[in-house]
Parts: sequence; structure tokens; C-alpha cells
Amino acid sequence: MDAISAPVAGVKIVQASWRDLKSLVALEKICFGRDAWPWMDILAALTFPEMVHLIATASGQIVGFVAGDRRGREGLAWISTLSVHPDFRRLGIGRELLQRAEEELGMDRIRLTLRASNRAAFDLYRQLNYQIVDIWRNYYRDKEDGLVMEKVRR
Ligand SMILES: CC(C)(COP(=O)(O)OP(=O)(O)OC[C@H]1O[C@@H](n2cnc3c(N)ncnc32)[C@H](O)[C@@H]1OP(=O)(O)O)[C@@H](O)C(=O)NCCC(=O)NCCS
Repeated sequence: MDAISAPVAGVKIVQASWRDLKSLVALEKICFGRDAWPWMDILAALTFPEMVHLIATASGQIVGFVAGDRRGREGLAWISTLSVHPDFRRLGIGRELLQRAEEELGMDRIRLTLRASNRAAFDLYRQLNYQIVDIWRNYYRDKEDGLVMEKVRR
């Protein structure tokens, strides 16, 4: 795994692999609780050829994860997950992971969804020029609405 960049001292952004599955299942549970992906979805994100998947590491520990995929027919890409371990938040790691994923996806339009109440994610996405383009009513299991946000890169 070659390091791509270091957003903050000691943190590296590198390609994820199936070997990271166990650590990512744990990170997903810590970061998303009831919304956590099952391990099979994480494995798919790590192995499907069309998926972009990056991790942030600090001292060999995985502290962040982003995955997304290109949907050529729709003319856009979707970020399907983004998470940073609570001990490593507000250091710019989430922003760096997202920007790296956007670059690697290489599409003009990028979309993602978030809980309407997720202030941290909403502020991050606004900072990176995502705009609300749709609201999926009752999208989550507990009926909370999902916000669909889109960024046009060029
Ligand atoms: C959302 C998440 C990925 C942000 O990761 P992070 O590494 O802490 O974010 P960054 O440090 O890169 O923050 C970038 C910007 O996002 C916004 N932001 C991040 N956390 C915030 C918070 N708790 N409250 C308000 N704004 C916040 C700020 O604008 C911040 O810029 P600033 O620090 O210069 O003010 C992280 O909080 C997380 O993993 N949450 C749980 C999982 C989740 O909700 N993922 C998104 C699902 S759609």
C-alpha cells in the first residue's frame, strides 16, 4: 500500500484492500451504530472493481474510510460511505478522504446522502460545495429523511 498523501501529521491516505475488512467492520460500527453496513457490503466496497476505496491510517491503525462508485449511465458518481474514528475528528481527515475520493472517481457530478440531522457531515459537504438536490422522505429505518447532495466539479 503506497501512501497517497498526509492531510495531518502522521496520517496517511492509502488504498484499502480486503485485508482491511475486519478493521473496517469495527470502524463502521463505531461511526454509524444502527446505520452500520453489514460486513458483506463492506467487502463488496473493497473488492468490486468499479469501487473507489481509501482509508486513513495513523500509526498503522485505520482511522477513516471512504468508498464510492461511478455510475456511467447516470453520468455521475456516488460516495457511499465516509467515516472518521471519533478520536481523530476535526483534523481535516474527512475532508481529505472525500476530496481524494472525488479525484479518483473523476466524474463531473458527485452525489451522496446523509441523515437530515447529521450536522457534522452536512457542514463538511457544504464546505466542499455540495448542494441539496433532493430529499428522500422516510429514507432511514427510523423514518428520518435522507438529504441527497450533489457537487458539480467542472
Ligand atoms: C462526518 C465526518 C466524516 C467528518 O469527519 P472529520 O474528519 O471530523 O471532518 P473534518 O475534520 O475534515 O471537517 C471538515 C469540516 O466539516 C465540518 N464539520 C466536521 N465535523 C463537524 C462537527 N462536529 N460539527 C460541525 N461541523 C463539522 C466543519 O465545517 C469542518 O471544517 P472546520 O474543522 O474547518 O470547521 C465524521 O464526523 C464522521 O465520521 N461522522 C460519523 C459518520 C458519518 O456521519 N458520516 C457521514 C455519513 S453521510
